[in-house]
Amino acid sequence: MTSKLGIKWAPIFGLPLKRRLQTAAVMHYPLGLIFVPFLSLFLAYYLLMTIIWWIVPAYLAWMVYDIAICKTSSRGGRRIEYFRHLKIWKYFRDYFPITLIKTADLDPSRNYIMGSHPHGILGCGAFCNFATEANNVSKVFPGITPHILTLISNFNWPIVRGYIMWLGICDVSKESIKWILTKKGQGQAAIIVVGGAQEALDARPNNYILTLKNRKGFVKLALQQGASLVPIYSFGENDLFNQAPNPHGSRLRKFQILFKKLSGIAPAFFYGRGVFNYTFGFVPHRKPVRTVVGKPIYLEKEPNPTKERINEVHQQYMDGLTRIFEDYKEKFGVDKDTKLEFV
Ligand SMILES: *[C@@H]1O[C@H](CO)[C@@H](O)[C@H](O)[C@H]1NC(C)=O
Ligand SMILES: *[C@@H]1O[C@H](CO)[C@@H](O)[C@H](O)[C@H]1NC(C)=O
Repeated sequence: MTSKLGIKWAPIFGLPLKRRLQTAAVMHYPLGLIFVPFLSLFLAYYLLMTIIWWIVPAYLAWMVYDIAICKTSSRGGRRIEYFRHLKIWKYFRDYFPITLIKTADLDPSRNYIMGSHPHGILGCGAFCNFATEANNVSKVFPGITPHILTLISNFNWPIVRGYIMWLGICDVSKESIKWILTKKGQGQAAIIVVGGAQEALDARPNNYILTLKNRKGFVKLALQQGASLVPIYSFGENDLFNQAPNPHGSRLRKFQILFKKLSGIAPAFFYGRGVFNYTFGFVPHRKPVRTVVGKPIYLEKEPNPTKERINEVHQQYMDGLTRIFEDYKEKFGVDKDTKLEFV
């Protein structure tokens, strides 16, 4: 690594091919999210001028049909095991690297709602561990089929929608969660990033604040559906990107909250490293992410849970997360006096 003008540059030559492939595998993730919408417009524009122009209207018609009539993203998605097993995900994993740690068996005759914390900027740990087989999640938890859930608006983008559905990703609507828990048999796991966009605004190194205290809808749904709850904490997820300072009450934070209210999207001003420039860019830093899957809280079906019951289970769930944090924090480089905070 050379440092010129205070900027750290990646060497042009001499890096092993493996590391280049790892960077490429990771790059397509943030770049994909930002550029695929534009790219698909260009692609459509280009195709429309060729002899196979009809592909564009045909694809769009099929997409509208798939969204409006089939509602595929709310009905189990379109998982392709082969796609989840691609080698590219192993390069993705080894870039950081990302590991999956199991603390207890999950009974495959039950269904689960799993909560993934923290959101981070891009949720790299949850993505790698549950949307791909890079860490053998299906072997680590035999009989469990994980579905990461994300905003329904992500399924309106051409190409992106197909891509994420092949990975087993579904949308996070109530209909979708119920479908996974009731229509697909046993061993289904709906993975929710409970803190959502709100939590992404707190994603920065050495931050251990989770947006969870007032988020209880997933607990109620778990009780109503008789799904068991599993807390998941990814150490290192918040270390992958820096974020412009936005303390509560600051002008930037107020703007972000307003923007989120209006659009549903929380604009996090994040930056990591670049492809060739290690100082600035939108590629995550090469830092380890350890995803610890906690012990399940087994629940039976309660069609009408009381508020007290929901609060009780919600507290149990937060305790489960705290336990993971306390058990592993020192091993993964978190200061022993640091506490997990819920807001
Ligand atoms: C995943 O499973 C394969 C085959 O069983 C094994 O070779 C590989 O080491 C496993 N990978 C991890 C990360 O456990
Ligand atoms: C590298 O990062 C610095 C920010 O530290 C930025 O000013 C510069 O323009 C970047 N260079 C390139 C080529 O992206």
